[in-house]
Amino acid sequence: MEEMVEKDDVQGIIFKGYARLEWASYILLHFTEPAPARKWIADLSTRILSAGTSSRDQSTAIHIAFTCPGLAKLGLSAEELATFPREFTEGMVTEHRQRILGDCNEGEPARWIWGGPNDTIEIHAMLLVYALDNATMVELYFSEKILWEQAGIQSVHVMEAHFLPDGKEHFGFRDGISQPEIKFAGRDESSHEANHINPGEFLFGYKNEYEKYTYSPNISPENDPQNLLPPDKNFPQMKDLGRNGSMMVFRQLHQQVQAFWQFMQAHTDQAPSSIKNPLEYVASKMMGRWPNGAPLTKCPVEPLSEFEDCNDFGYAQKDFDGFSCPVGAHIRRVNPRDNFLRDSTGNPEKDIKKSQVFMKRFRVIRRGRPYGPPLAKSMLPQDILKTEDSGEDRGIFFMCFNSNIGRQFELIHQTWINNPKLAELYEDPDPIVGFPEMMENGAVSSFTMQAYPVRRKIENIPRFVWARGGGYFFMPGIKALQYLGSR
Ligand code: HEM
Repeated sequence: MEEMVEKDDVQGIIFKGYARLEWASYILLHFTEPAPARKWIADLSTRILSAGTSSRDQSTAIHIAFTCPGLAKLGLSAEELATFPREFTEGMVTEHRQRILGDCNEGEPARWIWGGPNDTIEIHAMLLVYALDNATMVELYFSEKILWEQAGIQSVHVMEAHFLPDGKEHFGFRDGISQPEIKFAGRDESSHEANHINPGEFLFGYKNEYEKYTYSPNISPENDPQNLLPPDKNFPQMKDLGRNGSMMVFRQLHQQVQAFWQFMQAHTDQAPSSIKNPLEYVASKMMGRWPNGAPLTKCPVEPLSEFEDCNDFGYAQKDFDGFSCPVGAHIRRVNPRDNFLRDSTGNPEKDIKKSQVFMKRFRVIRRGRPYGPPLAKSMLPQDILKTEDSGEDRGIFFMCFNSNIGRQFELIHQTWINNPKLAELYEDPDPIVGFPEMMENGAVSSFTMQAYPVRRKIENIPRFVWARGGGYFFMPGIKALQYLGSR
């Protein structure tokens, strides 16, 4: 039985990527005085675009998410904050998380532009603003700025993002193709059953893939005199502050675009001689999709255009050994799909079903956007290699939603991205976003392309991506936002 989801109470960005609203600004805010900040939040709650409102006719959208110090500043007590997930209350920058996320050397928080130990002003919230075009963005930004400044709120840092041609990220690969489909009563199904995920994996207050309610932040009823919040599903004597909200992971990931393609160029000899475009082939083997989006597992030798948007595929039946899409490719390790269980040969059909069920517990909704100008407007590797790199910062504002950061986002990072011994691999962290410096005992980072009769191996993979900022945020439901505004 599928649950009803109160979409009118959910901030719209969790359900939709707003492909039409090409411009985005992420504004980090600091509350100087709690009382006017709360008033501003109550007022802002009326302007948030809900998931229940069609975004098709909208030219703008506004959302807000809070840090743990931000909620403390708004008046939540230590006891109340302790009901939030531990990853959120501890924050992204702990020694333990640095190891999980690979935030070392160039990516260490001490070098971050924001979110690290060098911040001079505490970050309390992120305002996410989306607009159809630049003029609309400028108008919206300044009209909102007047309001937050009147409430004594300071903007600490502003980040701007804009889609690149063909929905590509900076390395030149189409992004945002594979997303989980939130399962709820009355929706239009648009993907394979294995991709239908219970709402509780992303939203508090609903059943997750264990058929349980993820622990949600809660408060005692005395602190909700206006009775704005519903009872907590796990602790009905408490009020659910989390319902229809989600945990938002936000990371500014810098990309070394030219170094990426120079490395691929230096390893084109690893492509079989029959391959038409060895440069794209080697990089696509690492990504798991071709630049146009076509999955390697469906198109192992060339990017067929009819597969550009293909997301209905698995690995277990036709590509178990990774001859088409390598086992350690980015998309295969972050979502092994029907090939999560790799060690049993007893009954493949049973393993496929089990894998699909398990994998539903490790999905995230990605809503990231690229930042910085493209190195070459065409986004083609040949042009990227020819263009002089002026050293401008470019990368992805990686953003994802999940209800359990530890079991979803962090597990993907620690167990799959950053694990050189994933599946039958030995020295292979994720070739695109892995952390070669974290290999044990000075081992070199490799990428293995399974092949017959012998596999091919590329060694000494440098790091192409590192963090320059980040944080864990709570994006409340709209009623919870009204509640925070009324405290
Ligand atoms: C600069 C960094 C990154 C780049 C360039 C990148 C690039 C890509 C591309 C091109 C795709 C394929 C398009 C698609 O299926 O939507 C993809 C898929 C994906 N990426 Fe990344 N990514 C990056 C960082 C990350 C990180 C940090 C995570 C951690 C959670 C991640 C998780 C995923 C997931 C879950 C998928 C979907 C896989 C699937 O379902 O098949 N990515 N990424």
